[in-house]
Amino acid sequence: AVEHTFSILKPDVTRRNLTGAVNAMIEKAGLRIVAQKRIKMSRAQAEEFYGVHKERPFFGELVEMMTSAPVVVQVLEGENAILKYRDVMGATNPEKADAGTIRKEFALSMGENSAHGSDAPETAKQEIAQFFKPDEIVG
Ligand code: CMP
Repeated sequence: AVEHTFSILKPDVTRRNLTGAVNAMIEKAGLRIVAQKRIKMSRAQAEEFYGVHKERPFFGELVEMMTSAPVVVQVLEGENAILKYRDVMGATNPEKADAGTIRKEFALSMGENSAHGSDAPETAKQEIAQFFKPDEIVG
């Protein structure tokens, strides 16, 4: 089925001026960028977004990193978009990511891993709703 997934191009990407390079990989994979904006995430937004990781030892570092520079938030559309984008991103740990994936090409570390993508339809819906109004998504 045609799905929407939520994507973030993280501060390590904006800082190195790689947003176009990552978007080219997204589009080459057949995913369509149907909403996109560059924002500076507030601490409150980052804490809400990563709420499920609140008890993890890396939570503080994660919030610091996500608010350290602009990010690009996106909605991607395509057949099986949620799983497809996870394939395009590659493994969370860039050392384990397959060749040709965003994280293999660009990620700096487990934390500065260039991209976020939703892990399931329910989370995709929630994550999209945190950052986009329905009329900002133009398929
Ligand atoms: P993401 O897919 O956005 O979801 C949770 C994020 O936490 C993950 O990508 C990484 O940026 C970060 N993360 C996961 N594991 C670690 C870790 N061991 N150390 C630091 N950051 C991590």
